[in-house]
Amino acid sequence: MTRLDGQIALVTGATAGIGLVTARRLAELGAEVFLVGRDASRLEAAVRTIRAAAPEARLETLQGDLSLMSEVRRVAAAFHARHDRLDILVNNAGAVFDTRRETDEGLEMTFALNHMSYFLLTHLLLDTLKAAPAGRIVSVASAAHRQGRVDFDDLQSKHGYLHMRVYGTTKLMNILFTRALAQRLQGTRVTANCLHPGFVASSFGDATQGFFKFVVAWSKRLFAIDAEAGAATSVYLASDPGVAQTSGEYFVKCRVEKGNARSRDLDVAARLWTESVRLAGL
Ligand SMILES: NC(=O)c1ccc[n+]([C@@H]2O[C@H](COP(=O)([O-])OP(=O)(O)OC[C@H]3O[C@@H](n4cnc5c(N)ncnc54)[C@H](OP(=O)(O)O)[C@@H]3O)[C@@H](O)[C@H]2O)c1
Repeated sequence: MTRLDGQIALVTGATAGIGLVTARRLAELGAEVFLVGRDASRLEAAVRTIRAAAPEARLETLQGDLSLMSEVRRVAAAFHARHDRLDILVNNAGAVFDTRRETDEGLEMTFALNHMSYFLLTHLLLDTLKAAPAGRIVSVASAAHRQGRVDFDDLQSKHGYLHMRVYGTTKLMNILFTRALAQRLQGTRVTANCLHPGFVASSFGDATQGFFKFVVAWSKRLFAIDAEAGAATSVYLASDPGVAQTSGEYFVKCRVEKGNARSRDLDVAARLWTESVRLAGL
């Protein structure tokens, strides 16, 4: 693996699952890693876990609930206060919510956490990524994007909430965001790619209830890969020289995949961009 000594990385959702392994692997490769999480004790536990495997790891923590755009702004400001350069941004924090909830800022929770936090954090850190010799933005999407549909008349899912459909829509948005972002980054040294990590036995879905929780738990036991394997494509996109020039692509198992037709609709991607700018107050 390519060493990342001297590089600075920031990983959201670094307290568990795929994000924790991604943060550990980047630290093992020599990067200074900022772990972003919403809970101080879980952040401390993540630091202990990584240090147990990599005693020399250079780690920092940034605390914030990324479903709130005010906290995304606070996390970005806290990073700016420490560094003016970021080599690797891994947008990874995400979840599924079995009932419709709104954040205190009035956004539907899945949309806020899974799409808007990627969108806003990337925007706020773009100057630091452009200041790096070769900035990389890696966003964790999902094969569940196939279940998604972007409905611009109901981005907040007020007129019907099917949780896996809403989740799939936000993961579709991750791919559309990546493609639109890559277009805008042409002519810069920054790349943007996204990925499906595989079906991973992480904490994903654990906070749901009833039949869905049961199905997810059993499916994980029977079919899922572990978080170590689940982080492989994130680490690959964050570090491998073979993808240094690749941008705007969706990867599965470290290979470019087309994604479905909706994930390649650049008109929808452009409109989503405009709506996201408006909702983020940019
Ligand atoms: N697992 C899969 O099969 C699968 C498949 C496709 C895509 N993905 C994607 O992979 C990414 C990582 O998921 P995972 O499987 O590793 O799930 P996970 O084990 O549940 O980890 C999710 C991470 O996101 C963090 N997070 C959740 N809500 C947050 C909030 N409001 N603010 C800040 N951080 C928050 C969690 O922090 P806490 O520790 O505080 O909960 C945790 O660190 C997600 O984007 C997910 O959509 C997963």
